[in-house]
Amino acid sequence: MKRFSIAVDGPAGSGKSTVAKRVAAKLGIIYVDTGAMYRTVALHCTQTGIDLQAEAAVVASLDELNMRIEPNAEGQKIFLNGEDVTAKIRTAEIGKGASTVGAYQKVRERMVELQQDMAKELSVIMDGRDIGTVVLPEAEVKIYLDAGVEERARRRVGELIAKGENPDFEEIRNMIIQRDYNDMNRAHSPLKKAEDAISLDSTSMTIAEVEQAILDIVAERVK
Ligand code: DC
Repeated sequence: MKRFSIAVDGPAGSGKSTVAKRVAAKLGIIYVDTGAMYRTVALHCTQTGIDLQAEAAVVASLDELNMRIEPNAEGQKIFLNGEDVTAKIRTAEIGKGASTVGAYQKVRERMVELQQDMAKELSVIMDGRDIGTVVLPEAEVKIYLDAGVEERARRRVGELIAKGENPDFEEIRNMIIQRDYNDMNRAHSPLKKAEDAISLDSTSMTIAEVEQAILDIVAERVK
């Protein structure tokens, strides 16, 4: 089988990363979580006292930010200037910050360059917001994964509880709505379904069903 790419886009909490990790393991390919990269930029700014609304300062901070992604059996590890920040970036606050810095064109240019480099030599399944439209427009398989907002909020709340947090459902739901609005309405590479993407609605599908649907599409498209 030749090298191939799978692009998975969709709003927050649609199940992209859970499913993409499983598909990667099944196919023996690399999983790249691009949201983690924007989250790492937001974390770096937060830790160094840079106002996320200050676009020029956020962009300038990229020069002292070294990001390294290490794919592994569980998905990926991400390092910020040598520190493993894989767990640290998974808060609702950093997710919101990632959406803010992800609106800046110069931030996107840097991230897209790194993402395209990762997909150059190896088969990947990459999830994000602009993968099928901008990062990997030639991907053999493009999936647009969606789910109803209530269900997505329930999933996020479940994840946060599993991590020992005590989230408020309404607050999480409102943050998701706000984040989707930001991601879909920004000027640069907004979240939208690529014309040639296949839509899947995971609201009432199990993880295994979504995984199988993607594997079936891959089997059909990648020979
Ligand atoms: O998938 P996630 O929740 O980890 O993503 C966090 C934010 O990062 C998301 O709300 C918008 C931004 N993002 C982006 O702009 N482009 C991507 N390819 C991935 C994420």
